[in-house]
Amino acid sequence: MIRSVILGSGSALPKRCVSNDELAQTVDTSDEWIRERTGITQRYIAGEGETTGTLATAAAQAAMADAGVTIEQIDLIVLATATPDNTFPATATQVQSALGGSGFAAFDVAAVCSGFLYAMGTADSMIRSGMAKRAIVIGAETFSRILDWEDRTTCVLFGDGAGALVLEAQEVAEDGPGVLATRLHAEGEHCEMLYVDGGPSTTGEVGKLRMKGREVFRHAVTNLSSVLGEVLDEAGYVPADIDWVVPHQANQRILDATAKKLGLPKEKLVVTVAQHANTSAASVPLAYDVARKDGRIKKGDLIALEAMGGGFTWGASLLRA
Ligand code: ACO
Repeated sequence: MIRSVILGSGSALPKRCVSNDELAQTVDTSDEWIRERTGITQRYIAGEGETTGTLATAAAQAAMADAGVTIEQIDLIVLATATPDNTFPATATQVQSALGGSGFAAFDVAAVCSGFLYAMGTADSMIRSGMAKRAIVIGAETFSRILDWEDRTTCVLFGDGAGALVLEAQEVAEDGPGVLATRLHAEGEHCEMLYVDGGPSTTGEVGKLRMKGREVFRHAVTNLSSVLGEVLDEAGYVPADIDWVVPHQANQRILDATAKKLGLPKEKLVVTVAQHANTSAASVPLAYDVARKDGRIKKGDLIALEAMGGGFTWGASLLRA
């Protein structure tokens, strides 16, 4: 059977790291409050010249180097972002050009924090249907540019960054590597729980992020544990079979509560929220890259990816490394 197999991963962070203490100099908050409620200790914030596109390009270059492939071997780029460089063209096309590629399909996917799961699902479907052979799937964001820095209930939670995976179509055995199952969901009736109050067709301005934090928290734990159950069922596994969960890094308490609901030991979670904060669509591939490079994720491991974000949208993917 044909599966999408991960050949390599890469990530990129802005140069500037901002600690909770530094943030507390300009925002009415404290290191203690942020740590206790979220687990976050610092975040990276894009500076002049750093954009979603430049971070995505750097992450894609690192992933291609890790995979040992050149841009000539790539025939698809899918980039998940809610903070594109421009309203159009898609940031993916700018990344394609910056990587020296041309001719093949390149487009953005918008599902906010779940964007990387939606991008993986899209690329995996295109690979299995024969439309693409080798894809770069990227999650990249500069959320710092849509934050209301006067709103302490949201601005302390997010950071900027990018992560990328290279996927390749491979003929594999039943117990071989590759993406085994992906499930995606959306409930548009909850769009006012987490949204940006602007856009090209409404205000004509970019807008700022608005969130009802408690409601997001409640839905996140329920939806994430149920969608993880769905991909496990589809692929014929149980929670105890999972080697690593690479979750969306929204909040340490959401991670802990979801693991508890599934009966998964905390040690099986890859957690980077303390260092990166919530980087939206970038958080899953960023965490994946960290855990693969530090040797935690090994060939043959059973890995679950999951994320939930504005919309609400959510999804999970089960794969063998
Ligand atoms: N610093 C200090 N105090 C603060 C801050 C801050 N940054 N933010 C809020 N407070 C205060 C509030 O004003 C409130 O004060 P009051 O009691 O005097 O009115 C108090 O802290 C408690 O506020 P709550 O909003 O009730 O705090 P809560 O315990 O719910 O934590 C949080 C807030 C961290 C946002 C939580 O609801 C949460 O994690 N929600 C999930 C949201 C999330 O992770 N979103 C990410 C995007 S979506 C996603 O990625 C899944």
